[in-house]
Amino acid sequence: MVVLGIETSCDDTGVAVYDSAKGLLTNRFSSQIEIHRLYGGVVPELAARDHIRKVIPLVMSVLEDCGLEASDIDSVAYTAGPGLVGALLVGATVGRSLAMALSIPSIGVHHMEGHLLSPMLENEFPEYPFLSLLVSGGHSMLVDVRSPGCYRLLGQTRDDAVGEAFDKFAKVLGLPYPGGPSIEKIAKFGSKRRFRFPRPMARHKSFDFSFSGLKTHASLEAAKHAMDEETRCDLAFAFQEAAVGALIIKCKFALEHTGYRSLVVAGGVGANQLLRKQIQELMHSLNGKAYFPSLQLCTDNGAMIAYAGFLRLRTGNRESLSYEVWPRWSLESLPPIPL
Ligand code: KG4
Ligand code: ZN
Repeated sequence: MVVLGIETSCDDTGVAVYDSAKGLLTNRFSSQIEIHRLYGGVVPELAARDHIRKVIPLVMSVLEDCGLEASDIDSVAYTAGPGLVGALLVGATVGRSLAMALSIPSIGVHHMEGHLLSPMLENEFPEYPFLSLLVSGGHSMLVDVRSPGCYRLLGQTRDDAVGEAFDKFAKVLGLPYPGGPSIEKIAKFGSKRRFRFPRPMARHKSFDFSFSGLKTHASLEAAKHAMDEETRCDLAFAFQEAAVGALIIKCKFALEHTGYRSLVVAGGVGANQLLRKQIQELMHSLNGKAYFPSLQLCTDNGAMIAYAGFLRLRTGNRESLSYEVWPRWSLESLPPIPL
């Protein structure tokens, strides 16, 4: 089955083609970072407008990449939620229209299910069940992935997502959006000794995260000092240490709770080298294994949507002519996918 995957839930337009016999054929993106940088964060209306501009040209170029005609596609998968409503509607409308014009089935995919199943597209992938840490600008979640379609949300952020906290604190430091890479870059030059921020929720016996307190604490500390280069690096260092430290504490706790020894880290914050190093050390100490899907599959992409769509379409899941998107949509409400 050849599936066209379309992702437009936030600020990346992603289109990919997945062939169940040959694997992922192509995976293309168009990032909106330059558009949103001016505002220091994602502006929903601008995001939707840019998806409108980019999605059809991307569909044309992925078909060209793999030498396919539109008539070679067997089905279309698009992100139906959760996400920004205007942005979701672009992908859903294009996906459903294409499917209708080609008289092929289509399916609305849960964005987080796409992320959770994305490691399966890599050469080295975990066995079910496994633990997944999803960390991006929009989500911070720990999910027990028991089998395809069967997910238990162990914990999530009670306020800001971890990437969002990086972005907001970077703004305080006068660093460009996206804040995560900006903070990581200068944290390398920071001193270990000058500031130490508390690890949020460290002693809470839950798997939930909270990052807005850390952001406020760090911002108040920043306001006490003249923002010279050295102070900026020292603050970035302490912020990164605390944010990563909080993620590690909860991963450890969830691994103890589930007994799992495979941990997948996905989402843009998964690019952070300190997080990667500490996750590797944690899994090594537990005789387990950490999986970091390539950055192309970690950040929002059409490939994960095509793959999750394929698993559900294969079992005969079909949609009627009307369609909806769900800006809020519980992961745990999804029906299991028969193997
Ligand atoms: O998954 P993603 O590309 O988009 C969504 O939010 O869905 O994640 C983007 C987020 C941004 O908040 C960005 O600051 C953060 O990931 N990020 C990082 C790093 N690279 C990206 N955070 C910390 N360290 C990084 N190296
Ligand atoms: Zn995402």
